[in-house]
Amino acid sequence: MTEPVVLGIETSCDETGLAVVVGGQIRSNVIGSQVEIHARFGGVVPEVAARAHVESIKSLAHRALAEAEVHPNDVTAVAATQGPGLAGALVVGFSFGKAMAWALGADFIGVDHMEGHLLAPMFQHEGYEPPAVVLLASGGHSQIVHMSDWGTYRMMGGTIDDAAGEAFDKLARYLGLGFPGGPAVDRLSSKGDPKAIRFPRALSDRPFDFSFSGLKTSVVNWVDKQHASGSDVPIADVAASLQEAIVDVLVEKTFNAVDETGSTTVGGGGGVLANRRLRARLAEEAEKRNVKLALPTAELCTDNGAMIALAGQLALQRGVAGIWTGDVDPGMRLGHPH
Ligand code: KG4
Ligand code: ZN
Repeated sequence: MTEPVVLGIETSCDETGLAVVVGGQIRSNVIGSQVEIHARFGGVVPEVAARAHVESIKSLAHRALAEAEVHPNDVTAVAATQGPGLAGALVVGFSFGKAMAWALGADFIGVDHMEGHLLAPMFQHEGYEPPAVVLLASGGHSQIVHMSDWGTYRMMGGTIDDAAGEAFDKLARYLGLGFPGGPAVDRLSSKGDPKAIRFPRALSDRPFDFSFSGLKTSVVNWVDKQHASGSDVPIADVAASLQEAIVDVLVEKTFNAVDETGSTTVGGGGGVLANRRLRARLAEEAEKRNVKLALPTAELCTDNGAMIALAGQLALQRGVAGIWTGDVDPGMRLGHPH
């Protein structure tokens, strides 16, 4: 086989993702979700996550190779998430990947999880290429990135407090909608009126930055007031209105960055980009401005091994050296090599 055959491993948080990408195409992409394990705690418990990765990674690796119909000896490179993420969880996938690459005589490369999200649109959008503005919004990170060239990323802005997914998760927990919160709010919002309640849109004076902690306070205060006055809480309207507040800010700031850079392509990645209202609003705005929108389908927006394999393959092709001596980097930041 002459094409690169890359095994991608993602274990930065609560999904164990193993995938095989051959020549940039997904051959298999298997996910071991820990959602049910963490749901009873109302959030991801780091130690529990690391343990669950240990228990499932080997069988998922076998499954990914079997589904891809790839023999382990044909793997040319193993790519594993190096950071950012939970240290104990990262160590599981990184060490497993290193051991596997060593045993197979393959290359090994560490990947920035956010670079994986950033490149994921390539699987389904042929013309997705720099220069592009990319909105990355997940449970731990929210940022707007300008990709001026392959592998060259500039942070234009981001959250100054909670990540967008974190805001969805915290508000959903407060409203009793369970974990993870984003999908629950997304579903319930379709039954509510997004204009029912006007929650605040923060940081209007900073074109590319977000803040979501004030939104949480405002929703809590609004619901408390309803309770105090003996009124019912129209939960679907609350969900739709808070979702609209988050979406408004993400869309506005993304297109501020488009205006600033003159980019004609907008990409997106991270679990929050699975949000149906956000996708619709980004599409509307992109069409209005005649800008190309490249969003992965929902299952490639959330954490997966395929995006890690792709980012690893592209880095190796750019001549980035493998990192046998490197370690995980829980605080890794895109565009800040060290
Ligand atoms: O990228 P991801 O799978 O994991 C991290 O790297 O954090 O993102 C998970 C986040 C969670 O906060 C989850 O609530 C949010 O993405 N999310 C959504 C939706 N699906 C997942 N948020 C809003 N709407 C959704 N449909
Ligand atoms: Zn992620």
